[in-house]
Amino acid sequence: MAKVRDSWGTRLGIIMAVAGSAIGLGNFLRFPAKAASNGGGAFMIPYFVSLFLLGIPLMWIEWTLGRYGGGFEHGTAPGIFHSLWRKNRFIKYFGVIGIFGPLVIFIYYTYIECWTLAYSFFALFGKYHSITSQTGMQSFLRGFQGLEHNAYFQGIGIAYLFFVITFIVNIWVIYFGIRGGIEKLCKWALGILFVFGFLLMARVLTLGAPNALNPGWNVTNGMGFLWNPDFSALKSAKVWLEAAGQIFFTLSVGIGVILTYASYLKKGNDVVLSGLTASAMNEFAEVIIGGSVVITAAFVFFGPTQIGDIARSGVFNLGFVTMPLVLNQMPLSGLLGFFWFFLLFLAGITSSISLAQPAIAFLEDEFDISRKKAVTLFGIVSFLLCQPAIFFLGRGVVDELDFWGGTFFLVIFATIETILFAWVFGMEKAWDEIHRGADMRVPKIYKFIIKYITPLFLFIILGMWFTQEWLPIIFMRNVPAANQPFILATRIGLLAVFLTLAVLVKIAWENKGRQVQKV
Ligand code: ALA
Repeated sequence: MAKVRDSWGTRLGIIMAVAGSAIGLGNFLRFPAKAASNGGGAFMIPYFVSLFLLGIPLMWIEWTLGRYGGGFEHGTAPGIFHSLWRKNRFIKYFGVIGIFGPLVIFIYYTYIECWTLAYSFFALFGKYHSITSQTGMQSFLRGFQGLEHNAYFQGIGIAYLFFVITFIVNIWVIYFGIRGGIEKLCKWALGILFVFGFLLMARVLTLGAPNALNPGWNVTNGMGFLWNPDFSALKSAKVWLEAAGQIFFTLSVGIGVILTYASYLKKGNDVVLSGLTASAMNEFAEVIIGGSVVITAAFVFFGPTQIGDIARSGVFNLGFVTMPLVLNQMPLSGLLGFFWFFLLFLAGITSSISLAQPAIAFLEDEFDISRKKAVTLFGIVSFLLCQPAIFFLGRGVVDELDFWGGTFFLVIFATIETILFAWVFGMEKAWDEIHRGADMRVPKIYKFIIKYITPLFLFIILGMWFTQEWLPIIFMRNVPAANQPFILATRIGLLAVFLTLAVLVKIAWENKGRQVQKV
C-alpha cells in the first residue's frame, strides 16, 4: 500500500512554520551586523529592492513549486525539478543542491543555536554579569567555545553539553512530523518570540540618551542611523551583494526548505497570501524588532563610530559580546538577557528544524522509508557532520560552511529554479499554477518581474561574484596559512556529501525505474 504523506493541520500552521523557518538567527544577528557594517541607511535601499525583486518572487516560486511537486509525492528539489522537466535526465541532479544546502546550514546552525540556549541560562544565573568590558566578554565567549582556557571556562565541555541538548530537541521535534512536531512547535515558539521581542523593543526604545557625556548617542539618532536613506550606496557592488545575500538567508529562499514545507500542502491551498503573510512576519521581525533592538541599543551605548567597527568584528561579537554588555547596563539585566538569548534560541530552533526537513523528506519520499527511520538516519549522519564545526570553529570551518551552504549555493539554486519555473515550465502555466486556489491575485507586474527581472538580477549577482570574488575564494587568499588545511578538508568533505547525495538520487531513480518495469 502506498504511504500517505504527512500534511499540515491548519493554514495558520504552515504560515507559522514558514515564518518560523524564515525568522531565525539571521534576523536578529546577521541582519543587524550587515546593516551596521554597511552604513545603516545605505544598506536599506538595496535591501528593499532585493526584497521586492528577489525575495518575494522567489517566495511565490518556491511555494508554488513545492505544492506542485507534492502533488507527485516529491517533497524535495530532485523530484520536483524532474516533474517540471521530465525529458531532461540531468535536471534532478541540480536538485541535489536543495538537500545539500539546508543540510550544510543545519550542521553549523545548530551549534550556534546551542550557544543561545546556554547564554539564556548564563543570563538567568548571572554567570557573565560582573563582566563590563568588550575584552572580558570576548574571553568569556572564547572560553565557552573552547578556544581558550580562562577563568570562566576550562574547555569546550559546557558548550558540548548544550549542543547535545539542542540537537536532541531538534531531532525530537522532527520525529513527531510535520503536523505533530513542526507545526505545534512553531505556533507556540513564534508567539513567545514576539512577546519577548516586543518587551526588548519597549525597553530599548525608552532608553533615551543614557550617556551623559554624549547626548547625541540617543534612541532617535540610533533609529536614524538605520532609516535615514543614503543614496550614495547604490553605486557600491558590495552593498548590493550583501543586501541580496541577506534577503535569501533571512527569507529562507534559495535553500530548498520552502519547497519541502509547501509540498505538504493540498493542490487547492492558497500560496499567494500565505507566502506573503509569512514573508511579512519575517520582515517585521527582522527590520522592526531585529533592527530596533540591536542597532539602536548598540548605537546608544557605543556611538555611531564604534557601531560599524563592532558590526564588522562579526556577527557573534554583536550577539554574544555587545548585546550582553548593553543589557548588563540596564535594570533587570538578567531577565532581559534571558529574553534576548531565549528569543534567539526560539528563532534558531524553528529554523533548524526546517533545515533538517528536506533531507528527511528525500529519504521518505524517494526511498519509501518511514519517517521514524528517516529521522534516525538523519540524526546519526548529521550529528557526525556537526563535529568539525564544533571542534574546528577557530579554524574558520563555520565561515566556510556558511559561505557554500548559506551564501553561494543559495544564489545558484534560486537561479536554477527561477529559470525552470518561468522558462521551462513556462510563464503562462506558472502564472496559472501560482493562482490555483489563491486568495488574492499577484500584481500583474510580477509576471514580468519573475520572467525577466528576477533572473537578470540573479545573473548580475552571479556575474559580480565570479568577476570580483571567485579567485581569492578558490585560492584561499584571505585565509591564514595555518587554517588552509582545515578549509581544504572542509571543501573535500562538502564535495563528498554532495556526491553521496547525487548517488542517492541516482539509486532512487533506478529503483523507481525497476518498480515501474515490474508493474
Ligand atoms: N532564515 C533563517 C534565518 O534567518 C535561516 O536564520
